[in-house]
Amino acid sequence: MVSGKNLIALFFVAIILIFSNWGDKTMATDKTKTIKLPLPSIKSGVSVEECILKRRSVRTFSDKKLNQSQIGQLLWAAQGITAANKNFHLRAAPSAGALYPMETFAVTPDGIFKYIPKSHEIKTIDEGDKRKKLASAAWGQDFIVSAPLTIALCSVYSRLTDKYGKRGIRYAHIEAGHIAENIHLQAISLGLVSVPIGAFDDKKTADVLNLPDDCQPLYMIPIGFPQSNEKEK
Ligand SMILES: Cc1cc2nc3c(=O)[nH]c(=O)nc-3n(C[C@H](O)[C@H](O)[C@H](O)COP(=O)(O)O)c2cc1C
Repeated sequence: MVSGKNLIALFFVAIILIFSNWGDKTMATDKTKTIKLPLPSIKSGVSVEECILKRRSVRTFSDKKLNQSQIGQLLWAAQGITAANKNFHLRAAPSAGALYPMETFAVTPDGIFKYIPKSHEIKTIDEGDKRKKLASAAWGQDFIVSAPLTIALCSVYSRLTDKYGKRGIRYAHIEAGHIAENIHLQAISLGLVSVPIGAFDDKKTADVLNLPDDCQPLYMIPIGFPQSNEKEK
């Protein structure tokens, strides 16, 4: 028998559950939602030399998720605004003609997000865990599934080729390397590990990331905390 008191308690629990689910669904279906990222830090206890020394391609990650501050810091190192006035915004990595062909995406267990450098925000592109699909698009590189964050660099070549012709394609690839190295070194500085991925099916990867036709995936970087045995190396 359920007593009157228990019935009242059940009623309140049900109300809380209904409202918390309602809140989640609103978040989950709101693809226009943007999330303001915490301001990046410009100080760390790890020197750039130490980051260069310690950087290795690591393909196993612990279960620990990254928080918004760590995700924001990595995206800032990739493409954050580092100098600005009313006429221009310059970013963390150099870019031919300051034309910035790269779009930067974050794939987390929660969904796919696009980085907006100017406002240091991420915009929801798709919700839900797409990491299995991404691993499958990358020829079954399954460590993508255990990475709490994969940053994908995708190029809109026309931003460069309109000015530089075919040479603009080379410039985009050079720039992807600059951006990627910033990410790898920032990861080390945060106590994280990363791995570059160039082997993936372009079309399948573009489909998973919901890329527009003019945007080509170039480079993916899974990032996470090292497994405990890795820490001891
Ligand atoms: C352009 C590029 C593409 C790469 N693609 C992959 C990849 O698809 N999968 C992978 O596991 N490692 C990939 N790597 C990582 C290399 O295997 C790794 O850098 C190399 O073994 C040297 O090891 P280190 O990064 O620890 O110095 C890639 C590296 C580069 C630079």
